[in-house]
Formats: sequence, structure tokens, C-alpha cells
Amino acid sequence: MKYGKFSDDGREFIITDPDTPRPWGNYLTNETYCAVISQTAGGYSFYKDSKTERMLYWTGQNLHQGRPGRYIFIQDEDTKKAFSVSWEPLRTKYDSFECRSGFGYQIIKSKVSGIEAETTYFVPADEPCEIWKVKVKNTGKKIRKLNLFGYLEWFIGSADYQTFYNIAILWNRVQFDKKTQAILAKKTAFYEEFNIKNNPYVLFFSSSEKVSGWDCNKQKFLGYGNTCQNPQSVFSGKCTQSICDGEEPIAALQHKLTLKPGQEKEIFFILGQTKGDKDAARIIERFRDKKNVEAAFTAAVKMWKNRLSPIKVETPDKDFDVLVNNWLKYQLWMCNMWSRSPSFYHEGQGGRGLRDSCQDGESILSLDADYGKAKLLKVASLTRRDGTMAPGWSDTYGPYQNRPFKDHPTWLTPSIAGYIKETGDVNILNQEIPWLKDKWIEGGTKTDPQWHGPSAPDGEGTLFDHLLAQLNFTYNDVSVHGIPRVGEADWNDALDMAGRKQIGESVWLGIALVRALKLLADLAGLIKKEEIKKDLLEKARIMTKRINEAGWDGQWYLAGYNDDLVPFGSSKNKEGKIFLNSQSWAILADLVPQDRIKTILDSADKYLGGKFGYALLAPAYTVFDPGLGRIAMFSQGTKENAAVFCHAQIFMLAALAKLGLGNKTYEEMCKIMPNKQKDISLYKAEPYAYAEYLIGPDHPYAYGEGAYTWLTGTAGWTYMLATEWILGARRDHEGLLIDPCIPSKWKKCKITRPFRGAVYEIEIENPNGVEHGISLLEVDGKKVQGNLIKPHGDGRTHRVRAVLG
Ligand code: GLC
Repeated sequence: MKYGKFSDDGREFIITDPDTPRPWGNYLTNETYCAVISQTAGGYSFYKDSKTERMLYWTGQNLHQGRPGRYIFIQDEDTKKAFSVSWEPLRTKYDSFECRSGFGYQIIKSKVSGIEAETTYFVPADEPCEIWKVKVKNTGKKIRKLNLFGYLEWFIGSADYQTFYNIAILWNRVQFDKKTQAILAKKTAFYEEFNIKNNPYVLFFSSSEKVSGWDCNKQKFLGYGNTCQNPQSVFSGKCTQSICDGEEPIAALQHKLTLKPGQEKEIFFILGQTKGDKDAARIIERFRDKKNVEAAFTAAVKMWKNRLSPIKVETPDKDFDVLVNNWLKYQLWMCNMWSRSPSFYHEGQGGRGLRDSCQDGESILSLDADYGKAKLLKVASLTRRDGTMAPGWSDTYGPYQNRPFKDHPTWLTPSIAGYIKETGDVNILNQEIPWLKDKWIEGGTKTDPQWHGPSAPDGEGTLFDHLLAQLNFTYNDVSVHGIPRVGEADWNDALDMAGRKQIGESVWLGIALVRALKLLADLAGLIKKEEIKKDLLEKARIMTKRINEAGWDGQWYLAGYNDDLVPFGSSKNKEGKIFLNSQSWAILADLVPQDRIKTILDSADKYLGGKFGYALLAPAYTVFDPGLGRIAMFSQGTKENAAVFCHAQIFMLAALAKLGLGNKTYEEMCKIMPNKQKDISLYKAEPYAYAEYLIGPDHPYAYGEGAYTWLTGTAGWTYMLATEWILGARRDHEGLLIDPCIPSKWKKCKITRPFRGAVYEIEIENPNGVEHGISLLEVDGKKVQGNLIKPHGDGRTHRVRAVLG
């Protein structure tokens, strides 16, 4: 593979050419503190929320470069030459370069003119900080006198202020504190959205050795007109001991090293944010000690190893295994921890969206049910008594107060159903959860939800009541055809003008509602609410009928109707004639009459299918349509305007797998797998993390380019697809279903999966080369009727033999 390869155990990606076509990123985090870091140490860090508490400067608007970052500069006092260990930003010619991206760490190593240097970046499991463990070795024959600088660019505070940089810098106070030998950075006040308070935080940058110089002022360190690519102090070998008061802040710490031939020296840099100088001093002290640094590194690696250890797959496809056993799980954890915010491509708006959180929480259940549960209960607490929901929340400032999205009430039910299937914990439905109250309830109108005021609790109700209120809201919030209103988005955020007048409808949302109503009916049955169950099924029946009548275009399902009642996703449209999600979800919701299934699959293949998977819609919009919104503003083939949107591609594959089409599911899965992209100069993105989308076929020249990696619902859905549908170890209310749907050429494969207090080692045999359908199921050598394993719950490992055919 160009630029690098996976380690033999698949747990690291090793980059040997740093000049990748995009920053190839990694995340180092303990969920309080997060460092976004590329193969050349580019990126930024934040504390708790990537918007409100951004520590380092990052301008994600620059897609073509991955600077600034956390840099180690090494300058030779005699020759005055310098290099940066991470290649960026100085880009000096190196003798060798290697970046090992791992789970919880990033090790960047390079060798330049007889100096071998290595930085291990990691975030300890239990402190709000990151450590840069730097080793420098003289591999030449002469004594070398070196200046080593640790360098970063502060942002300090709310990223909202990046656009008012002239003002944002005025309350910066950064100086070197001789006592702690640390640079301490503060702002006089701190913004947490609508809540301004005195800044309790201190940001610190320190090292394990006595420093010989420092700088806090960007211009003083770099020199006027310079960037981190030509820092004056590095080349002169002298920091200026500057402070920064209301100016552009950085932190640079200088160390003088004299290394004999063969001699090696180690220095640790500690960067973090915490409340109060005292705590900062404690953390710095702790990590000045090599023993503590080594122990913290081991603990961080172990934490991630444990988190990634449940569920193992073994198939004939090694790419599939490397991804599903390692990187996909890590990506799924990152999505769960940081939702859609901190990426290389935008600075992060902070917080967590409701729709994304439901899907993330559901897909992590088989790895860590308690983690998923906590997230889903948090989402439940965003529900108002009338079933509407705050669209998300931030851990620093609480529930979002902006407009709700119409689809939001339909996401939690499937996720809670997933939780109960995974754990059997039906009692969760009776758990009391607060209702949310905010100004809209008092002053707004239901049909025209505007911005909300601050929220407050409004008593409690059971989780089941919350789910019921949510689905009843969507069921009743319908327009002319009896189909739910689209408002300013369904799953598709870019349909932001289709229903502004509260007339437009979303067929997809009606379909999603049917799926949720049926799942909630099952849950009602589990807690013996038979009347409610009947009512929910009746509502599902009625909505199914409306979808199959008013939502049917002839050869496929419509996407919706806009405020002028003009259908979109219809053969009547010139552009955007067919949308993928209505087809895939109709199958997922089990609402397609038998004689239409082939029709919609054929339509999807004919109009949407392609070399890189199904496009989200076709043909792409080339003309702006104010009846739809920004979907029709984007360049054709990008994002919601007809990209191969990986998340939606996986919805489709889940639908194909549901139909038992193993070959097609797998073939289509391979098309978007990051480690199956052969032409990296076209694909450009990391080979180890899914992209949000691949640019679609209607783009004038970039079809197949990967865009916006890491934080995407693709991770969760792919994980569920791979483990629950392809390998078919699927949770259900009664137990574990064994229902693989594999490519016919796979003769054997295996999945080991924990389930309700036992572990199942499931060996799948496929002697007749079929795609789906169990002919024999044995558990611990004994034949089982059907394909359901009743939970053993005995803490033991059970061997399962499943023969297809
Ligand atoms: C992004 C959002 C997701 C949305 C999708 C389509 O991936 O995170 O919530 O459904 O875009 O607009």
C-alpha cells in the first residue's frame, strides 16, 4: 500500500511516507481530554468540548494541509540546521521516517543527519492531559550539541471566537512560571455558550527537564511574517523568554542537549488543561517522573486493548478482519466519545447531536452495553412531554436550544430495542427519566418550532412513556398525505428548506416511523401493555398504507413532498429523481409488498449503483432548488448532493443482508472499505477509518475521492452490519440469533461474541457455497432446533457450529 501498511497484528497503521494526500489522523483520548493528531503531529487538543474548550489553534478550513500541531524541533548548534521530528512543519529531507498510529498513541520517528528522534504522544487514562515522550539519540561519530524545542500554538477557549480573532486574543494571559517550570495559559473569562463565567481553567505546557529558554508570544518566537515552517528562534537556537498579554499565544520550551556518539536522552512534555494552578502543578509533577509516564502509557494502551477486545471475527478476507477487529471498533469508540465534532476538516462545533448519538449508542451495545445504555438514557432525557426533543446536548452547557429536527423522535426506540435485545433488561422501560421543559413549550407554537430558551426538568416519566410520546408526536405531526412533515431535515440534514412552511413531507421519515412503531409494539408486549401494543401496530399499519400509496412513485419510493407539494425523489423530477434511503429503509421497516421488492432493488441498481457503491440520490442537483435547500447547493457528487454517502450505503447493505443477499452485500461493502481502496492518490483518505462519503459519480472529476473521515454513523452501522448481519450473531429478545449472510465463496468463518453473560464461539461452515440459511445448528455439540440460542448466562464459553446450506 502506498504511504504505509498495517502492522502484522493489524493494530497499528505504519506510515513511512509522511507526505500523504490529506492529514491521516488519529485520536488520543480518555473522554475528558482529546488530542486529534495526524501522522505529522498536526492537529489540536481540547478539554471536554471541542468548541467551548479548545486548547490549541486549528484552522480546519485548510483541507490541503495539516498544520499547525505539536512539534518537536531539533537544531544543531554548530551547523544551525534544524529539523522537526514529525517531518512537518520544517519538511527537512530525512533518512528515515515512521509514524505508528495505534489505539491511544501515536509514535513518530525520524532520522536526520545522524540524529534519531522519536516522539510518543499519548493521553493517560486518568488525567486531562497528553504526554509527548521524546527520545533523541546521536547515531553519528561526533559529539552533537543540540537545542530541542517543544512547540504548540494555543487557542484557549471558545472556537466561536476564532472568527473574532482580534478580540479573542485580547483576554489571553500566557507566561512562564518559574516555580513549576511550566507555561501557564489563561483567559480572564470563559464562554460556555450562554453561560459566561470567570475562567476556572489553566492550560499548561511543561517538561521533565529544566528549560533553558521559553516563549509564549507567537510573533517573538516565529519572527514577523514567519510561520511554524520557518521559526526564527529555532534557527537562531534561542528563545526570547517572551510573555503574551493580549496577543497571539504559543508555548515553546527550549532544552540544551549535548550527546556523545551513541548517547540517548529522553524528555517528556506535558500538555493539559485543568481547574486551578495547584492541580496543574500536581499533574506536571506526576509526569516529570519517568516511572509514572511509563506506567501511564502502559495503562492507556491496556485501557484501549480491553475496550477493543470483545467480539472477534475470522473470515477468509483479511482486510475485513483487520477493520472489524481493530480499526472499526476504535472508530466506533471515537464516534461515541466525540460524536461528529473534532475532526481535521472542521474545528468542531462541539456537543452531540441526537440522531448521531442514538445510532452510536446502539452500535456500541455489543462491545459495552453499559456505555451504550448511559448514552441512550441521556438522549431520553432530552424529550419534552409532547414528544419533541432537544436536538442534542453539550457536556459543558447542556441541551441544545436550537430548532429540533423532525426525524429525531424516531431514533431512540430502535436503539432502546437494541439495548433490550442485547441485555434482556426489560426493566429499563420502567425507569423514571426527567422530561425536558423549555421556553418553546410555554411560548412557541407546535407547528413552528423556533429557538428554545434554557431548559429545565419537568417532572419524570418512564422511559417507555418517553418513547411513546416521541412516536406519537411524529405520528400526529403529519401533512396533506398523512405522512410526517419534513420540517428542516429528515436523516438528511441538507434538506433544510423542504418543509420550512410546515407543509412538506418526508416519505423516508414515514418509513422510519413505521420501523420504530413496530419495534415499540414489541417492547409494549414485553411489559404487557397489550392495548398500547395494538394501537402501535395499528398506527404502523396506517402509516404503511400511506407510504405505499402516497409515497410510491411507480418504480421506487419517493423521498418526499416539498412545501409546494411537489414530490422529490420522483421520476417527475429532472434532478434528484431517486433517493437511496427510502428504498433501503422500506426494506428495513418491512413495509414493501413482496412484488415491489425486486422493483426497488433493480431501480436502486440501475440509477444509483456504481463502481464505488450506491449514490445517495441521482442524478445530482446542478441547479439550486429553494424548495429543497442546501442539498441542491453543494457541488454535484459531494456530501448529500449525490455522494456515495457511506452511512446510507450501509443502510442499503443492511437491507440487502436482511433479504439474504450475501454476495451482493459483501461486494458492495468492499466498494467503500477504506483498506480496499487501491488508488490512494484518488481516494486520498486514511486506509484505516471510514470516510463520511466518497465523492459521487456526477462530480466532474473526483469520483471515488474519500471525504471527511472518522466521525460518521458509518462506523456504527458497519459494525452492526459486519457482526450482526454478515456474520449473523444477532441479538434478539429471546436470545442470540445465528443468521449469517455471507458471500458464497466463504467456506468457513467465525465470530466470537459475548452475549448476556456468556461467550459464544460461533464457527460457520458453508460446504455448499450458499449465501444464507442455516441447515444445522449445534451448541456445545448438541443439536438445536431453529437458529436461536437461548441465553446461557453462565459465564462460560460455548462452542457453536452453524452449517449453512
Ligand atoms: C452527517 C450527520 C448525520 C446526518 C448525515 C446526513 O453524517 O452527522 O446526522 O444524518 O450527515 O445529512
